[in-house]
Amino acid sequence: MKAIIAAGGKGTRLYPLTYSNNKHLIPIANKPLVFYPLESIVEVGIKEIGIVYRNNLDEIKGVLGNGSKWGVKLTYIQQKEPLGLAHVIKISKEFINGDRFVYHLGDNIFVNGIKKPFDIFNSGKINALVTVIHHKENSRMGVPYFDRKGNLIEYVEKPKNPPHDFAIPGLYFFDSSVFKCFEGKSAIKPSERGEYEISAPYQWLIDHQYVVKTVEYEGIWKDPGKFNDLVETNMVLLSFKKDFLNKGKIDKKSHISGDIEIGKTSRIKGSTLRGPLSIDEDVLIKNSYIGPYTSIGKNCTLINCHIENSVLMDGVRIENVEGRIDASLIGRNSQITSVNERPVSHSFMLGDHTKVIL
Ligand code: G1P
Repeated sequence: MKAIIAAGGKGTRLYPLTYSNNKHLIPIANKPLVFYPLESIVEVGIKEIGIVYRNNLDEIKGVLGNGSKWGVKLTYIQQKEPLGLAHVIKISKEFINGDRFVYHLGDNIFVNGIKKPFDIFNSGKINALVTVIHHKENSRMGVPYFDRKGNLIEYVEKPKNPPHDFAIPGLYFFDSSVFKCFEGKSAIKPSERGEYEISAPYQWLIDHQYVVKTVEYEGIWKDPGKFNDLVETNMVLLSFKKDFLNKGKIDKKSHISGDIEIGKTSRIKGSTLRGPLSIDEDVLIKNSYIGPYTSIGKNCTLINCHIENSVLMDGVRIENVEGRIDASLIGRNSQITSVNERPVSHSFMLGDHTKVIL
């Protein structure tokens, strides 16, 4: 069994962060987003994984390397045109080379792992499998129509009036029959938006009498491709995190409680920290309150401030800020400071698509 992870895509819903960051490398709970799908795949024992990227190979390869960190082999596959999720399968044919495979979207997180659907796909004579979940906003997702035996009958992309609340998250399983859908007269065609939708290969397999099953994913699923979801996903991942290690220095005037991870050479002075919290390396926190569900990247400086439930990327500086910073997502090397002058005024230098709530 092999696996592919789709890690291309522009991430427009996360502007402005994705102007300068590959969406899949944005840190959540101080780990790049793409690590979560990768680690779910590693956990079920798959050793050969294809990473499908659009451009900036050096950037993603710099973070993931050759896979040796996880004991697996990573192969990088370029998708030259953004032609959709089914096109990712088409260009992975040589890598898959006749095997069965898992296809995981690089921005989806299956918090409780993927073992159950993996085992079901492995155990039966199934040509393809989709996972299904309950989701109240399923009209913005793929929606499954299935019979009582769990056979998929139709995969409809973003229907206006879905008949139930089931949706299909970004975890797909195929055997190599799927590659036939790209060949000959009956080959699948791009949708109106010009993309080969992931629904198309499934529909092709169903129409050609292959066995396509559904299985309900009973764990927690997150798609942090949107602002609110990212902060919320950070919260969920910190509450499920197990390995909290403290390698930093905490002075006697500080108070800490709950699960807290602190990276080496980070210093905590005269501050209160409430877990779960993840603080990376080279961070200085002074005279501050850092509340639960906050992730702080490398090299941040936080002085006289109050932060809760937020994600701070590397190099953030926050100093002398009155009031609580809550549910915020702050990009690399951003600064929030204040001056003690009257009249009170605000001074901003904001990137495109930035959101400020005062
Ligand atoms: C894609 C798929 C959709 C699936 C979703 C899961 O949608 O087309 O079927 O439900 O991923 O994240 P997109 O997020 O590209 O709109």
